[in-house]
Amino acid sequence: MIFGATGDLAKRKLFPSLYRLYKKGRLSERFAVVGIARRPLSNEEFQASVKASVESAIKDNGELEDFISHFYYHSHDVTDSGSYLALKSVAEKLDAHYSLEGNRIFYLAMAPEFFGTIAEHLKADGLTDVDGFKRLVIEKPFGHDLESAKQLNKQIRKAFSENEIYRIDHYLGKDMVQNIEVIRFANAIFEPLWNNRYISNIQVTSSEVLGVEERGRYYEKSGALRDMVQNHMLQMVALLAMEPPIRLTTDEIRSEKVKVLRAMRPLEGDQVKEYFVRGQYGKGQLNGQEVPAYNEEPMVDEQSNTETFVAGKLMIDNFRWAGVPIYIRTGKRMAAKSTKIVIQFKDIPMNLYYQTEQTLNPNLLVIHIQPEEGITLYLNAQKSGQNMEATPVKLNFANKGIDDMNTPEAYERLLYDCMRGDATNFTHWDEVALSWSFVDKISDVWENTKEAGFPNYESGSMGPKEADQMLEKDGFFWWPVTDLDVEQC
Ligand code: BG6
Repeated sequence: MIFGATGDLAKRKLFPSLYRLYKKGRLSERFAVVGIARRPLSNEEFQASVKASVESAIKDNGELEDFISHFYYHSHDVTDSGSYLALKSVAEKLDAHYSLEGNRIFYLAMAPEFFGTIAEHLKADGLTDVDGFKRLVIEKPFGHDLESAKQLNKQIRKAFSENEIYRIDHYLGKDMVQNIEVIRFANAIFEPLWNNRYISNIQVTSSEVLGVEERGRYYEKSGALRDMVQNHMLQMVALLAMEPPIRLTTDEIRSEKVKVLRAMRPLEGDQVKEYFVRGQYGKGQLNGQEVPAYNEEPMVDEQSNTETFVAGKLMIDNFRWAGVPIYIRTGKRMAAKSTKIVIQFKDIPMNLYYQTEQTLNPNLLVIHIQPEEGITLYLNAQKSGQNMEATPVKLNFANKGIDDMNTPEAYERLLYDCMRGDATNFTHWDEVALSWSFVDKISDVWENTKEAGFPNYESGSMGPKEADQMLEKDGFFWWPVTDLDVEQC
């Protein structure tokens, strides 16, 4: 049951992902999808919109008639018990028709203010009273801060137990984010070096070219810190920094991630200024086109104090990471759409190869999350034809899918995981709570101080200069994401 079935997420991601699963034979014959939204639609109209969204997302789309015949529509008022009782009767009919054995997944792909109300009604009106499994999939944002997240959790826990709740962080469905664990724990050559003896710093960048688009209303209250850092960025950091789990089960992995989040040095008062930089995009040129400043976007206050860029320095105070800065940065309207992780190794103890001041390039391991997927390892080798002179070389692995259908999209994996009951790539309550308590300290300071000089970076740049200065103070610089592109090989 998809709440918000006429919305953007359902159309762009959920229906095409369900179709891919269907094409790969990963949905049994016995499935039904009930689309739920406020506006009145017939089943036929809804099926036509599902068909259109699959067609616009996927080129090779045979067999659509049978696929869409499994889709039903229910017009719904989320605050009205009568609506839920009607939905229950639809669900019971479908259960009998397709022999679904009472297995139900409720997917909340809609405005977060209704998450709690829906969960409460699902229980009160008997929809969770089933013989099979019941699972709740919930989109971000999970709360606005720790307090509201706790409230929301309390509401949904009345109807679902923690292991029935699948909190989506779509970054955890990305192939190369999942690959972080494999790169680390399936290779003898990295794990021994993965600590403060050999790594000098880690940089995690997730930059976007798009601006805030039509989401001004949401974004004004959220900003990049809540929109990207609290979830996606901290999840990537947890995967990079965690200890090897004793086995690859949901609970073991989660418990290691939780330990990282607990070891993150909390920031108080003035430290926020030292460790975090915020920015807001101004006008600029992107692909030869003039684009407006953030405070000129629809539904954005001209005097907005909302950040569209965040750079931060995280310190993980544990034995493995003491002294190693993990820098993160994310923003909208930047020079490139790119998510990359750069692990910079320490310099070798002595440079035998240059007589001059010139230094050797450090070894870098770059994990390309998107748009290209792959790994690059930067080494030094002898310059061809030159005796004893070192030059940087790259070892590249490009993780290119064979075709459109074979590379699973994040949502496809996550939906499939949820159907199979595997919650590893979803965020557990403890992770949500720890991330909020870290982020709240920063937003408290930011909300109480108006940033002078917003907007402070040009659209099409890599953010404000303060973000560069933060690394310069530590003797580092941001590795330029575009120069690190993985090559096909
Ligand atoms: C979402 C944010 O969670 O992630 C968006 O709400 C952001 O603001 C998006 O654009 C980025 O996701 P991706 O997969 O395009 O990097």
